[in-house]
Amino acid sequence: MSPLPDPQVRPTGVTPGSGGLVDRHGRTATDLRVSLTDRCNLRCTYCMPPEGLDWLPKVEQLTDDEVVRLVRIGVEQLGIREVRFTGGEPLLRPGLPGIVSATTALLPRPEVSLTTNAVGLSRMAPALAAAGLDRINVSLDTLDQARFKQLTYRDRLPDVLAGLKAAKNAGLTPVKINTVLLRGINEDDAVPLLEYCLEHGYELRFIEQMPLDAHHAWTRGEMVTADDILAKLTATHTLVPDVEERGAAPAERWLVDGTELTVGIIASVTRSFCGACDRTRLTADGQIRNCLFAREESDLRAALRTGASDAELADRWRIATLSKLPGHGIDDPSFLQPTRPMSAIGG
Ligand code: 5AD
Ligand code: SF4
Repeated sequence: MSPLPDPQVRPTGVTPGSGGLVDRHGRTATDLRVSLTDRCNLRCTYCMPPEGLDWLPKVEQLTDDEVVRLVRIGVEQLGIREVRFTGGEPLLRPGLPGIVSATTALLPRPEVSLTTNAVGLSRMAPALAAAGLDRINVSLDTLDQARFKQLTYRDRLPDVLAGLKAAKNAGLTPVKINTVLLRGINEDDAVPLLEYCLEHGYELRFIEQMPLDAHHAWTRGEMVTADDILAKLTATHTLVPDVEERGAAPAERWLVDGTELTVGIIASVTRSFCGACDRTRLTADGQIRNCLFAREESDLRAALRTGASDAELADRWRIATLSKLPGHGIDDPSFLQPTRPMSAIGG
C-alpha cells in the first residue's frame, strides 16, 4: 500500500489505490484540463488586468516531462479519456507540439484538444495537427477591430482570424469559437459572430461570464444571461433545439435556420451543469483542482519532485477528487471567488 500524504483529508471508509477519479457525489472525472502557462499575450478585460499578473516563476512551472508524466498517469491509471490544453495562452509554451505528440501517443489514445486565443495559430496549426491534435477552441468576443483592441488591449484581430482559417485548413475540426458577452460592451457582436461562424463553418458557443476575473469585478446583475443571448439570436435567426444527447457537455445547442449548423450556449451560471461535471484540472504549477471554483488545491508537483511513484501520484489525485463539491455555489450568499483567476487555473 502506498503511503498516504494527507491523512486528514482522507475520509473514513474510503480506500484509494485503484480505479478512476470518483467523487463523493458519484461523479467520475474523465476529462482533464491542463493549464500549460499562466501567461497570455492578450488582456481580455474579464480575465486579466492590462498590466498583466505576477507570473509564476519558471521553477514553479512543471517541465514538459513533468506535464507528460502526470497526463500519462491520468490516462493509464485514472481513466482520463479527454485531454484539453489551456492557459493562459498555451501557444506561448515552446514545448507544446512535443507535449501534444506525447499525449496522443498514450494508450488508450485520449482525445486531445486545445483552447487558445489563436494569436500565432496560423504559424502553429500545421505542427499541432502533425502532433496529432484533434480539435481546437478559439476565444473570440468581437469581429470589430477597434472593439477587439478595446477588449483585449492588443490589436490582434487579423492574427486571430488567420489562425481560425489555418486551424480549419489543417483539419483541426470542428473549430469551435467561445464568446463571452459583456453588458454594454460587445452584446451587439452576438449576431455578427453567429453569421461569421455560419459562413465559415465554425461552431459558435456563448459562455456566461463567471466570477473568475483577476480584479473581482463580476456581478450577477451585469452578466449577460443565456436567456438574454437567446433573445438576441432569435430576433434575427430561427433556432431549433438540437435533440442530440448532451451527456456531460456543458453547451445547450440549437440548429440554426433549418441547417445542420449549430450554436451553443454554456449557461455556467444560470443553468449550472455541475451535477454532470466530468472534469479535473491540473494547473501550470502542478496543482490538482477538482473544480474551477475549488478553494483548495492538491500539490502534485512537490510529491513528484520528491520522488513519488506513479501509484502514489495517482492516489493523491484520487484523494483530491473525493472532496469535489456538488456545485459552484455562485448563488449562495457565502460564495467566495477562487483566489486564482481563470488564466492561472485553465479554462
Ligand atoms: N467567464 C466565462 N468564460 C471565461 N473565459 C475566460 N474567463 C472567463 C470568465 N470569467 C473563457 C475564455 C476562453 C475559455 C477558456 O474561457 O474566453 O474561451
Ligand atoms: Fe488571455 Fe484567455 Fe485570459 Fe483572454 S481569456 S486574457 S486570451 S487567458
